[in-house]
Amino acid sequence: MTELRTTPITARAMGTDLRRVDGLEKVTGRAAYAADQRIPEALSCWLVQSTVARGRVSRVDATAALAHEGVLAVIDHTTAPRLEDTSNRELAILQDDRIHFRGQIVALVIAATSEAAREGARLVRVEQEAEPFEAELREDNATYRPDSVNPDKETDTEQGDVDAALTAADVLVEATYRTAYEFNSPLEPHATVAWWSTEDGRETLTMYDASQGVHGVAQALAPMLGLAEDQLRVMAPYVGGGFGSKGQPHAHVMAAALAARTTPDRPVRLAVTRQQMFALTGYRTATISHVRLGAGRDGRLTAIEHRVQEQTSAVKEFAEQTATPTRMMYQAPHRRTSHRLAVLDVAVPSWMRAPGEMPGMFAHEVAMDELAVACGLDPIELRRRNEPDVDPETGLPFDTRRLTECFERGAARFGWADRPTRPRATRDGEWWVGTGVASATYPAMRMPGNVARVESLDGGCYAVSIGSVDIGTGARTVLTQIAADALEVGTEAIDLHIADSSLPMASVAGGSSGTSSWGSAIVAAAQQFRHDHGDRPDPGLRSEASAMRGDEVEQYSFHSFGAVFAQVRIHRYTGELRVPRMLGVYNVGRVINPTTARSQFLGGLIMGLSAALFEEGVRDPRFGHMVTQDLASYHVASHADALGIEAEWLEDETPVFTPMGSRGIGEIGIVGTAAAIANAAHHATGVRVRSIPLTADRFLG
Ligand code: MOS
Repeated sequence: MTELRTTPITARAMGTDLRRVDGLEKVTGRAAYAADQRIPEALSCWLVQSTVARGRVSRVDATAALAHEGVLAVIDHTTAPRLEDTSNRELAILQDDRIHFRGQIVALVIAATSEAAREGARLVRVEQEAEPFEAELREDNATYRPDSVNPDKETDTEQGDVDAALTAADVLVEATYRTAYEFNSPLEPHATVAWWSTEDGRETLTMYDASQGVHGVAQALAPMLGLAEDQLRVMAPYVGGGFGSKGQPHAHVMAAALAARTTPDRPVRLAVTRQQMFALTGYRTATISHVRLGAGRDGRLTAIEHRVQEQTSAVKEFAEQTATPTRMMYQAPHRRTSHRLAVLDVAVPSWMRAPGEMPGMFAHEVAMDELAVACGLDPIELRRRNEPDVDPETGLPFDTRRLTECFERGAARFGWADRPTRPRATRDGEWWVGTGVASATYPAMRMPGNVARVESLDGGCYAVSIGSVDIGTGARTVLTQIAADALEVGTEAIDLHIADSSLPMASVAGGSSGTSSWGSAIVAAAQQFRHDHGDRPDPGLRSEASAMRGDEVEQYSFHSFGAVFAQVRIHRYTGELRVPRMLGVYNVGRVINPTTARSQFLGGLIMGLSAALFEEGVRDPRFGHMVTQDLASYHVASHADALGIEAEWLEDETPVFTPMGSRGIGEIGIVGTAAAIANAAHHATGVRVRSIPLTADRFLG
């Protein structure tokens, strides 16, 4: 297998609105998601969860459960198959009697039907010894300094003399900003179907899993189960969203594997309920950001400080990289960022759309709005004055940035010039009206290790294979476009195979890196194929390749940028907040499919609106569980909330980053959006709210 230095490809299919290649399957209901797979003889597994936040399981009494019709087995920590590696403590379930958080899996019930399994789970009696625990994130928690923050970034950075620069600054903004616990809440709950079989004396485990990365699941589980990677096959043909929660396997995937281990040749289906997702499938930690900005009277920043406090779980560390965007956003000679974690006896936090950038840019961009007010400057002009020539902390040039152009274009389209300078200047009947802006940014990432395969078929067609997953983003469609352009054929000549770990290696559909990573591998395989076999190949020839990374990573800072505009209306008596208009203008390199790209931007903007107005997981510190554990109590934006939302982008390309000229687009839409709305709320009412969600009570009195 070759590692190829790719050359940029010419856009023919790229840039067109190719209809979703799997659209018909989806709208007709033929697309089978993990739990939909019709697998004969499948048994059902139901999870039994701890009801104390810390302690140990002293006894699991399965008598009543086993007496229930249809229940076949109950597995607990005394009977579960042993794992060979327990270092991933989130996945190493049922290996000992310890309880690390409320909602942890403490037993599995296997039954002939899902109804029997569920009733069986209700009948299992788990005796638990409770121990004292801490489940509340407070400013006075004891904290520690993690070795790095997600995924592998520096925990702290410091340049210049921040304290002296802040003391000397003409204008100082100093405030604390908070973001809430948020839950990914994809439309499709997590589900896994697993079965073990023995072929030629060799054991294999096969799974359908609602996953953002089939190879990642295989890599995580195989060593724990004592399997070589080729003994574990994972497929994810259709996935109904993930937003990061399906980016790594969570404990339920191991539960399905262990349950199926005890029922050889019988598949086991495990569907996680919406309520169980609030304990088992990851969430965004709440964050506390202490921000200090020092500037001259002209608004030019002299010092930026962003110190973050957040939480991780006792069972497994996750360090949200909240202050990382602050490191590259604006110019200032003196700068400091840091992250500290409180260890709580709570469920394991994880990735949620733009981990780090989303909460961090809320804090930084509201602080920038406060600085604009303090300096008497238009907030767009303030940002223009603080544009860096190069990445301020690394000194590397951006491949393309063009943030100021995004603001100019957005300002023209949004009608920014008509905006009153003073807050609380516009009332429409009983509603205060205001507008606000914020910047958005997201790093462009290309993951190593991706491989693609091209094989010639009859009639000038090609099979193109890579194990990547389309979680609803349109990846199947854009990869078809990329393959067509790389092979210089029409999209109808491409037969794309994805979503199976038996296909060539693909990285996770996460970090907005999917299209960049997989597309680059497809281009490499196509160019390798043309080199090996020419452009009029006989059927049955094949080439595999991965795309070489050159030294461009050391030469450029790769980030996407955007300008977010919001208009809000706040009811003068009830505090109700509505967002009638939002606009995001982005620079993301080449847009490969305008329809699917717009859908990503709009989805991100709506998710940002949802965070700004509604989303808040409430944990009861007395018992350690999330009180809001369904979509009735954990509110997400609905259609009625998503009004007048528009997204557009600059024509651009970045051939130095990918041969397609594109960066990623999946996450940037959520970044900055909540800040734009909070800033608009201040403009409407004069009330500065420094935490999300922006509930009605903040605007009363
Ligand atoms: Mo996204 S949170 O990187 O799956």
